[in-house]
Amino acid sequence: MQHSEIQAVKQRFGIIGTSELLNRAIDIAVQVAPTDLSVLITGESGVGKENFPQIIHHYSHRKHGPYIAVNCGAIPEGTIDSELFGHEKGSFTGATADRKGYFEVADGGTIFLDEVGELPLSTQVRLLRVLEAGEFIKVGSSKTQKTNVRVVAASNLNMIQATRDGRFREDLFYRLNTVPIAVPALRDRKEDIVLLFRKFASDFAEKYRMPAIKLTDDAKVLLTNYYWNGNVRQLKNITEQISVIEQQRDISAVILRNYLPEDDLKRLPALFTTSGRDQKSFSSEREILYSVLFDMKKDMNDLNKLVHEIINGQQSETKREEAHFPATFIAHKDTRFNTAVSGVDFKKDKPSRETKEYDDLDGGDDFQDAEEYHEEETAQKPLTLEDMERQMIKRTLEKHRGKRKAAADELEISERTLYRKIKEYGIE
Ligand SMILES: Nc1ncnc2c1ncn2[C@@H]1O[C@H](COP(=O)(O)OP(=O)(O)OP(=O)(O)O)[C@@H](O)[C@H]1O
Ligand SMILES: [Mg+2]
Repeated sequence: MQHSEIQAVKQRFGIIGTSELLNRAIDIAVQVAPTDLSVLITGESGVGKENFPQIIHHYSHRKHGPYIAVNCGAIPEGTIDSELFGHEKGSFTGATADRKGYFEVADGGTIFLDEVGELPLSTQVRLLRVLEAGEFIKVGSSKTQKTNVRVVAASNLNMIQATRDGRFREDLFYRLNTVPIAVPALRDRKEDIVLLFRKFASDFAEKYRMPAIKLTDDAKVLLTNYYWNGNVRQLKNITEQISVIEQQRDISAVILRNYLPEDDLKRLPALFTTSGRDQKSFSSEREILYSVLFDMKKDMNDLNKLVHEIINGQQSETKREEAHFPATFIAHKDTRFNTAVSGVDFKKDKPSRETKEYDDLDGGDDFQDAEEYHEEETAQKPLTLEDMERQMIKRTLEKHRGKRKAAADELEISERTLYRKIKEYGIE
């Protein structure tokens, strides 16, 4: 499908996001819509599964027929058969009249069975029959009725596991799953996170008649790398909370952290989690800075490798992630390399904003740095956040000739924290 068509679908259904995985899910939904095939939509809770049956209905020849959404998990087991397939008067206590079920009402249209994994086994048998033969029998009746309904189902359960555990009929699973659509988790489409935040922030600004909240750069990094267990729904809720509660409209990582459940902060890369919330300023801004430095260092490694390969006329298929800087490089201290990478070398003239920060932290001892860099690379050991922190503390202590108070002041941490870290890292 054309990119512009996918855009049109998103616009019509208010779907935000540009990720390939999301585009693919939308594409499948539109392609399968004109057929009468059953579709099973899977994805974690809050990923936006509910848009898909509507897309399918809208782009099908049934679009002028009824569309009924049923939340199978919300209907008590005792009444679900009657709700779905109807009942006859007197078939159970309280059945004072005949009642049509959703499958009868939706004749000629589409039925969306949300949380289909929650259906009781006896109901699953009835559903299979509708899917295979277009037939059903009302509760308390013996008469077979016909209906022409297209079924779209959704589940946030692992359906394969549910069939293994005997909670879901395998034959029904395969029948529903004729066309599977997997809606990606938010953490698998990181590029959409800030876009969604912006959209929700602007919606809530309108709703509550306040200026929209905005994220600072460090908050964007945190938001993008968060685990998002509750996916888009959770992001929306958090955006609403912040919109309402915070007076301050520029939201920094420090503020944002207060709204992100602790358990999922622990699932972030180590970078964001080494300190507890009691040291917020240290643990967020500084760590984000580390993260930038860390990435720069990695980029430098990759660039160095590339330059080295070009000069040596080497061809390499090695992936960027696997790139290791050859040990011989700094050992020769070959000036050609310094020239070759000057455009990106953060120790050269005209540093960019980040490179300036690096220089400041680095203490200006370029040569020593190169030595240490070399040692690390030779050992093929990646530089960890702890390594960087250890080095920083060591250097700052050296600079202040061992005076802890001055070093702690410069590092903007308490003397107690510095003392603890000195012990932790075994710094002399
Ligand atoms: N791509 C998106 N753009 C804008 N809003 C979205 C997007 N995806 C989801 N949402 C919003 O997120 C919320 C949760 O989506 P939805 O109810 O479809 O989740 P779900 O996958 O059905 O979750 P569950 O399995 O818990 O029922 C809704 O308010 C929905 O409008
Ligand atoms: Mg849902």
